[in-house]
Amino acid sequence: MPYISLFLCAAFTLVNIVFTISSRRTAASLDPPVTHKNIHLLRRPSQYIRFDEVQRPSEPIPRQFNNYPIAVAQIDAADEGRIFAEDARAYMSPIGTVVPGDRRVLVTPTISTVVQFRTIDWGMEDCELHVSLPALSLGVGPKGVSVVVHRLNQTYPLDLATLSYRTRPPRVAKLASVQLSRTEGTVWHRRFACAADDVLTFELECSQTDGGDCLVEWWQKRGHVEPVPAVYLTQHATA
Ligand SMILES: *[C@@H]1O[C@H](CO)[C@@H](O)[C@H](O)[C@H]1NC(C)=O
Repeated sequence: MPYISLFLCAAFTLVNIVFTISSRRTAASLDPPVTHKNIHLLRRPSQYIRFDEVQRPSEPIPRQFNNYPIAVAQIDAADEGRIFAEDARAYMSPIGTVVPGDRRVLVTPTISTVVQFRTIDWGMEDCELHVSLPALSLGVGPKGVSVVVHRLNQTYPLDLATLSYRTRPPRVAKLASVQLSRTEGTVWHRRFACAADDVLTFELECSQTDGGDCLVEWWQKRGHVEPVPAVYLTQHATA
């Protein structure tokens, strides 16, 4: 009896070792580890399952909210490999590091700012991009300054640790050239259809015709309304 037990024990141990080795090999080839470079490949199933089948007692009520960027970063055409550290204005306080979430927007003749949004919620698939700036808070030269807004071909969140002029997403369309006003402030907006859970990427660039005096910079706070300087997305109800 003890010999039979010992034999079975040894045999099953061998079988276990074989299973362990083979399963490790297949697991490694099927699931590469998730990092911030490939996390966008994971499925993002809708959280609003069968909402579209719900019968509504009335017409959609006009509603809207503001959606602030998930990423704001600079790229520099004069220094193609430069990666701008995301400066969140973090500071040490007696209770620890505080990250207020302010984002820097900077546009100069060579530096432009890439801004990324993710649409949220359900039935809010009517988007409106806003650039809203108060008067005279900008380094505006005598001729005035225009900022060109481009749409970029980037449909998942950017990796800010590798974003530089060289790795920037390609431009798809020029949306507008926004003339900044010194006296009245600037409110520019453009409405377009967007999908739920869509990642939208834009670039703010100095207009090429302005010569050398373009310099626009602001720190963007989250959740503030006009006329605090901000680039943000308003989502309007569609259902
Ligand atoms: C955007 O990029 C994707 C893949 O990189 C490509 O298939 C698509 O044609 C591009 N779209 C435009 C409008 O350039």
